[in-house]
Amino acid sequence: MKALVLAGGRGTRLRPITHTSAKQLVPVANKPVLFYGLESIRAAGITEAGIVVSDPREMLHPDPRTGRAVTVMVNSQAEIRAAVGDGSAFGLTVTYIEQEAPLGLAHAVKIAEPFLGAEPFVMYLGDNLIKDGIRPFVEEFRAERPDAQILLAHVKTPWEFGVAELEGDRVVRLEEKPPRPKSDLALVGVYLFGPSVFEAVRAIRPSGRGELEITDAIQHLIGSGRAVRSHVISGWWKDTGKVEDLLEANRIVLADLATDVQGSIDSETTVENAVRIGAGAVIERSRLRGPLVIGPGARIAEAYVGPFTAIGDGVEISHAEIEHSIVLERSVIRDVPVRIESSLIGKDVVVIANDQRPRAHRLIVGDSSRVELA
Ligand code: G1P
Repeated sequence: MKALVLAGGRGTRLRPITHTSAKQLVPVANKPVLFYGLESIRAAGITEAGIVVSDPREMLHPDPRTGRAVTVMVNSQAEIRAAVGDGSAFGLTVTYIEQEAPLGLAHAVKIAEPFLGAEPFVMYLGDNLIKDGIRPFVEEFRAERPDAQILLAHVKTPWEFGVAELEGDRVVRLEEKPPRPKSDLALVGVYLFGPSVFEAVRAIRPSGRGELEITDAIQHLIGSGRAVRSHVISGWWKDTGKVEDLLEANRIVLADLATDVQGSIDSETTVENAVRIGAGAVIERSRLRGPLVIGPGARIAEAYVGPFTAIGDGVEISHAEIEHSIVLERSVIRDVPVRIESSLIGKDVVVIANDQRPRAHRLIVGDSSRVELA
């Protein structure tokens, strides 16, 4: 069995972070979301993975708020190749498959056919995080060999997902992001397929959003009388496409953290709960209330870092308080008078107080950013 991992797409709901980074590489507890997926594929006994990446290019894309066309740079490919390499760090052999534009999940399956051949495969959306892994689903599929097996989860906002309608445990209908969902069962971004899926992806036409939808391909399998199984998962699952979801994923992963201190913590710092401190990190005169992770080379001085916070490599936080947040590499947070919380801060960002006159907020904020002041 092989794996097909999808790591293209625009990541519009994670802007501005995704103006410069692939959404699959945004870290949860200081590890890229994509890596959790690759690890769980390996843990399910699969060693060959194809990763679908997008070509670097400028694209015209409608802004979701204004509807106006804006230019977006899609350039996740080089970054993903650099992060995953040949896959050996994960015990995988990785083949990269280039998708010329984000034309949909079923389009990705179509272009991956030469790689997948007639072997059954698991398709894994690179921004999905399934806490307990995928091993039981892969084993069930291997034993029963249906044409497709989908995973479903009860969600509060089904209109944001592909939605399944069941009769008993039989899937009767699937709809992609329906305005009036027939159930609260969302399609989780992990699908198992046999080779009959290629017929289905060739038979369907692009949806209203101009994409070949995997949901339509599975619906096509159902319509042609193929065996489509479903499995409602009970464990925690998240599509980390939005900031709130990413923060929740961070919270869930950090909740199981074990203490591991490699950097230095001075005697004037108090530490509560589990903390992971990377090599070369220096913590002075601060209060750390875990669970939290601080990356290698970070500097924390006279600061409070609270629960469910992930501080990236080389970050500096001094005279400031932060909790329930994710801060990416090398950013600086200094002399901030009000606690920062529920925030996602990108790489090389500077958040500092300045007592220059006149007293004012001075902002240099990238496109699609969001600033909420207390
Ligand atoms: C995709 C699928 C959707 C599925 C979701 C899970 O949506 O089209 O059916 O429920 O992934 O993460 P997207 O996130 O690409 O909009």
